[in-house]
Amino acid sequence: MPDRMTSLPQPFQGVGSDEPRAATASRLSPCGSSAKLASTNAVTIGNATLYLGDCREILPTLPEATAGITFTSPPYNLGEGMEHKGGMRRAPGRKWARLSDGYEGDGDNLPYPEYCSQQREVLTELWRVTSGAIFYNHKPRIVKGVARLPFFVELPLRQIITWDRGSGFNCNAGAFAPNCEWVLMYAKPNWRLRDLKASMAGDVWRIAAQPDPDHPASFPVALPMRAIEAVADRVILDPYMGSGTTGVAALKLGRSFIGIERNPAFFDLACRRIEETHRQGDLFAGAAA
Ligand SMILES: C[S@@+](CC[C@H](N)C(=O)[O-])C[C@H]1O[C@@H](n2cnc3c(N)ncnc32)[C@H](O)[C@@H]1O
Repeated sequence: MPDRMTSLPQPFQGVGSDEPRAATASRLSPCGSSAKLASTNAVTIGNATLYLGDCREILPTLPEATAGITFTSPPYNLGEGMEHKGGMRRAPGRKWARLSDGYEGDGDNLPYPEYCSQQREVLTELWRVTSGAIFYNHKPRIVKGVARLPFFVELPLRQIITWDRGSGFNCNAGAFAPNCEWVLMYAKPNWRLRDLKASMAGDVWRIAAQPDPDHPASFPVALPMRAIEAVADRVILDPYMGSGTTGVAALKLGRSFIGIERNPAFFDLACRRIEETHRQGDLFAGAAA
């Protein structure tokens, strides 16, 4: 797939609506029967548009307020300080070794100032292309006795949601295994949840982690689903799409989705999952008719 998708997408036509933009071509993509290439490196599947590429290059091509909300989880830079390990290694019987070894072909180990500056750049772009709120999944870490808190930009922080994953990795006798992560919610001043009832979901979300054999850092579908069902926004964006979990949640809830992923293997995986969800939606619609 990547050798057929080499240039940046054309910017979307039409600015400011909370609706997905039209696909611009109809060449069949290798992702699945109903997937179409929207431009040289983007694919549309039903109401989803998926870009293969670096979100720092693709986000600037999107118009202001392209999405209603963003729900995303960036790489955590867990490989920082472990550069000597040299990127992803596979253990016998397991597709992925340790999360701190990074992603395939990517050690997830930038020098910390560079990591912060990249996240600041992406969050600033997300603020521009998102009309409502950014849900930013990250976690507080402690590196050599110093707290590393994921506050990379000064945007209006509305809330910190605690995601209780129910289990932790990195067990060692030096500390209690960290079981929780955060979802930082940055919101535009007039943005609101769908209604008062949606607020009852509370700010501690107990949702069990579900290890995925095909992606080292996916979150469970129920996590973005909890946010998406609480909002009225129609277009959901994930610039670090990974295996496409946010897209699956969006489509299951009848919303549109825009995803970006730079790793071709993960992009393909996301295409397959989203195609499958799209097909199931068609089946349900057919059965209900
Ligand atoms: C924490 S994972 C997201 C996992 C996703 N939430 C899921 O459930 O599968 C971060 C993803 O971002 C991708 N990524 C890292 N840097 C990127 C960039 N600059 N542009 C687009 N994707 C990027 C990685 O390849 C990885 O798949």
